[in-house]
Amino acid sequence: MGVEFDPNTPNAARMYDYYLGGKDNFPSDRAAAEQVLRYVPEIPIGIRENRAFLQRAVRFLAEQGVRQFLDIGAGLPTQQNVHQVVAEVAPEARTVYVDNDPQVLVHARALLQDSPQVVVVEGDLRQPGEIMNHPEVRGHLNFDEPIAVLLLAIVHFIPDSDDPLGIIAQIRSALPPGSHMVISHVAVDERPESAPPVEGIYRRASAQFVARVSSEIEPFFDGLDMVEPGVVNLHEWRPDSPVLAPRLETVKSYFLCGVGSVK
Ligand SMILES: C[S@@+](CC[C@H](N)C(=O)[O-])C[C@H]1O[C@@H](n2cnc3c(N)ncnc32)[C@H](O)[C@@H]1O
Repeated sequence: MGVEFDPNTPNAARMYDYYLGGKDNFPSDRAAAEQVLRYVPEIPIGIRENRAFLQRAVRFLAEQGVRQFLDIGAGLPTQQNVHQVVAEVAPEARTVYVDNDPQVLVHARALLQDSPQVVVVEGDLRQPGEIMNHPEVRGHLNFDEPIAVLLLAIVHFIPDSDDPLGIIAQIRSALPPGSHMVISHVAVDERPESAPPVEGIYRRASAQFVARVSSEIEPFFDGLDMVEPGVVNLHEWRPDSPVLAPRLETVKSYFLCGVGSVK
């Protein structure tokens, strides 16, 4: 169920790269992203907060002793990718990057697979069993030791018809004791009126965005013992620096995140 490489179809990974100010995108991606930005101009702030959350969460887990990371929906390489953040704490830690987009895989293999500690694997979150039993995943990670699974800004591309709760539960149940799951998901509580047009724009893209409100996102953390402060907006999760935009302090849920350990 991989994505076809097509520069003329807006691509979720490349649109994300465009929001982040990257260069790995084409005119069709930029046009679609600009349309989305008309409805939700603060997306670039949210996405930078998402990357900052990734860094804080990964560093936190590495400091807790986690030495294995499985990043599903890794995205196009950017700055401070998971294995680089981990290496600052534990250079011996292992990372597997998974994505279903061929362009992401090519770039990730070229830019991220820069040490024996890292492998890049093709996989689709909608088939979690294939990811968790993939020979390269099993060969690189020791399933007798704790693993941190990252599902960052990806579950909002899984429609209810694909059973995201069941997918997350299947991944959780494949993890050894002491493992963690890290999840972030756009929440549309702050701008419900933007949901239909943004979903419409992504309907033409490589992955379809599913607008959810916080009450629909919180169940994705069920079955986990949440690390403090629980499920919160990105900038509220163990901040170590001032938020990028003070306005975020006052908004409703815009992008929820959390880290939980497997019970
Ligand atoms: C918005 S990017 C997020 C990148 C990174 N996780 C982050 O938070 O910065 C979403 C990524 O998920 C990938 N993706 C979307 N649906 C997927 C699926 N069903 N299986 C695997 N990867 C998927 C896309 O190709 C893209 O690279």
